[in-house]
Amino acid sequence: MTPTAARRTLFTPPVPASPFPYHPGSLLSVTDLTVEGVSRLLARATELENHDPLLRDHILAKRRVALLFYESSTRTRTSFELASKALGADTTLISSLSSSIEKGESLKDTGLTLRALGAEAIILRHNSSGAPWLLEEATRLPVINAGDGMHEHPTQALLDLRTILAHLDPRTKTCHPELSNDRHPERSHPAARDGAVEGPAFSNFREITSETLAGVTITITGDILHSRVARSNMLLLPRLGARVLLCGPKELLPQQAAGAGPGIEIERDFDAALRQSQIVMMLRIQAERLAGLQLDLDEYKAAYQLTGQRLAAHAPAAVVLHPGPIIRGLEITAGVADGPQSAILEQVTNGVAIRMAVVERALLAGGNGAPADRPSSVEPQQGGLA
Ligand code: CP
Repeated sequence: MTPTAARRTLFTPPVPASPFPYHPGSLLSVTDLTVEGVSRLLARATELENHDPLLRDHILAKRRVALLFYESSTRTRTSFELASKALGADTTLISSLSSSIEKGESLKDTGLTLRALGAEAIILRHNSSGAPWLLEEATRLPVINAGDGMHEHPTQALLDLRTILAHLDPRTKTCHPELSNDRHPERSHPAARDGAVEGPAFSNFREITSETLAGVTITITGDILHSRVARSNMLLLPRLGARVLLCGPKELLPQQAAGAGPGIEIERDFDAALRQSQIVMMLRIQAERLAGLQLDLDEYKAAYQLTGQRLAAHAPAAVVLHPGPIIRGLEITAGVADGPQSAILEQVTNGVAIRMAVVERALLAGGNGAPADRPSSVEPQQGGLA
């Protein structure tokens, strides 16, 4: 090392720590969580799921949770509400169409109003990227990001991880559709129904580490550019050792996404990506965010639709995921969505357990011994998508 280089190293100021999140119970980004924090949350989700419901609803008895939704939602809103109620919390829903937001009230004033009304945590879905950070700064309440614009959807990535782990054989590090913790046996793979395979695999994971998904390739296909689900998964899965292949046309997947972080690659040929994948995550085209972009849907379907024929030919043993809502006949056929390789409804079910753990963390972090999961130093910024 030259003296100049040494001097530069010595005097280069450290990356300033982000003031966010202010509250240790907030979950604004998956990068707020260490790998140990992810492991604790998933373990707690399983504990809470198996907890006696009559005792579980004392955990957050009478605590107040506000669900502030500026965008429509079925899965996220319902599962956060069910999760909060399962722990005994009182919930209230504020949606942009039936509140004073419609009259022009700002996010800041809405948040301060909710705090004045006694809300102790706010779960926010917003169409603008970064809105949860602004709300947290204004209210200093624990804020949970339930999806912000094209940016992040951290609890979706956590429930996707839980679903992947449920299908992962920890001995061979391979995923199988027939391994499942699904509580709906009529939907499960025939091999599982016949008792030919054992499950669930998830219970074998006591601790998640940076090696847990080593050797696992996960393909994410479709509208990556507009997808907060893709972004949160790209920020989470490689930290556990996964290789993430992004697949889609250049209009929906800019080339610079390949530099989004270690473990992330682009493979434009869907069949080639499928042949390498143990997990295939399909995304819908987000018509509401295309902003005039014209796509030839017939061409898109020919290249990127997940059909039964394509799956059988190139990934007959892969597990199929989709965060929903699914558009049957566009990115995925009904046969695949309802078929034995699909874990789509398992993802939905896993949302409740994950969100119980996240809401509990929001309300008990720092107050009841639950350790904060924030990384001690700022991790290197991942290159962003356009
Ligand atoms: N996956 C997801 O966020 O679905 P909703 O929009 O229905 O909440």
